Amino acid sequence: MSNVFLSRSLNVIDDFSISERRYFFGKVQELKNAIISNDEKGMDKFRINDPDFGIYEVFLEDSTRTKESFRNAAEFHHAKVSELLSSSSSINKGESYADTFNMLSGYHNTIFIVRSRVEGLTRWLSEECGEYAKRNSLPYKPAFINAGDGKHEHPTQELLDEFTFLEDLNMDFSSIHIALVGDLYHGRTVHSKADGLRIFDKVKVDLIAPDELMMPEAYIEKMKENGFEVNIYPSIEAYLKNGDIAKLWYFTRPQLERMGERILQKQEILREAITFRRDFLPYLKEGTKFYHPLPRHKEHPTIPTWLDKTELNGWERQAINGMYCRIVLLSLIGGKIGDDYTPVPGEHDEDRRTEEYIIRVEPSGEKKTKNYSEGVRPITDGIVIDHICKGDTPGEIRDHMRLISSVLGLDEGRGGEWISRGSDGQYKGIIFRPGCRPFERKDLKRLAAVAPHCTLNIIRNGRVEEKYRIHMPPRIYNFDDLCCQNDACISHPSNGEGVPAAFYRTPDGHFACAYCGKFHTFKEIWKKRP
Ligand code: NCD
Repeated sequence: MSNVFLSRSLNVIDDFSISERRYFFGKVQELKNAIISNDEKGMDKFRINDPDFGIYEVFLEDSTRTKESFRNAAEFHHAKVSELLSSSSSINKGESYADTFNMLSGYHNTIFIVRSRVEGLTRWLSEECGEYAKRNSLPYKPAFINAGDGKHEHPTQELLDEFTFLEDLNMDFSSIHIALVGDLYHGRTVHSKADGLRIFDKVKVDLIAPDELMMPEAYIEKMKENGFEVNIYPSIEAYLKNGDIAKLWYFTRPQLERMGERILQKQEILREAITFRRDFLPYLKEGTKFYHPLPRHKEHPTIPTWLDKTELNGWERQAINGMYCRIVLLSLIGGKIGDDYTPVPGEHDEDRRTEEYIIRVEPSGEKKTKNYSEGVRPITDGIVIDHICKGDTPGEIRDHMRLISSVLGLDEGRGGEWISRGSDGQYKGIIFRPGCRPFERKDLKRLAAVAPHCTLNIIRNGRVEEKYRIHMPPRIYNFDDLCCQNDACISHPSNGEGVPAAFYRTPDGHFACAYCGKFHTFKEIWKKRP
């Protein structure tokens, strides 16, 4: 059987399916046991053991643990380990990330570990460098590991966090109850938990942070969509007084470097809400464990140092587990292990990407004689787009119809828009264009992206000859007027990398950016128009 892990990139935690992650944790346990018992044979099963196997670290943002644990993990493999010093690289001469990494791929490097402020960078690089490798007949496909991208995700931290929780839960996947405390707004390690914790069958998450540091709504939504029970508390104190207190607590540091002036002014009050105090101890349950991705601030740690020598300390083992997890990850991506994994069909969402979302229906089954009029005269030839933005206000519908017209190039010629109110009291928009050019597949795709849930009628000789119900497409790409609204995203035009925007549909009917994951409505995915 082929190894499904070979040359895989890990951009977000969900790039590995639930059963792949569960398999991974089993392997980490195996390796950890081998290392602890000094079992060389056991360790060798994981070792790539090839001095030509190139592992490249590129840290464009500061790091100690992630960078050093990966470097030590790479050295465990007896591989070639290199580091790009960003401060003296050509990125500072205006070179694109794609050009820089393409080149490094060409120098016989197979796995790249990348940390950056730019969100979605490794996803883009895995696509670009894959093409580069093909063009240049390289004997390998470079794989990318996201070691933290802006406020987005930190999938390898997620793996080591989960492994550590699992150790304390006797490797039982049936349920987890965890409190996430701290800077939930900026912290990418907690953002990765929205999908990461899906490895557990039942999940209860208590979010503890003042408003300014609360987790962005999109991640809370995602947690709920994933079936998690989510509770919110403004401070540790409020949680201890009112909450059903979890035994696992995951702390994060206030990420001052990512905060604006307004929040920085309030840092002391904010810090107080998320810092553990001695008088909180009696409220904790027997067997409670604290975790922290680290670093913690030497003067203002949210987990005070007097807790280091207590049973609560789970964060030191967690950081050590980081190296074990990263050894196993390199081993899998490098193809040394993974042959014995049996893929679970349907676990990767490529399966739903072929789904049809433009459904042709028989106009004869409907009101056959329905006449769409062009104000005064019935339309004999042309198109009518009906049911636009049903339920929105007339103002919103009017604005959006303007966007639809411009996205579909319907601004020229005759016709118009109107808003009607149905018997259910809801408003909807209608666009009609007599004598309109024929609609091709590409137009239908654009229509689905800009006006999902509408109906398209193609009228010839005074009759509705073709009728389509338009649903939300599972993916949108290849249109040059798309734009992710997150300026930290690799695909945002302000980054100048020329990355075409792409989106995929989320279960709750949003479009998530394929790179940075930001949620958009179908109205928000377009370049701003003058
Ligand atoms: C975190 C990170 O960089 O996202 N640290 C880590 O990787 N261990 C958290 C942080 O910087 O606060």
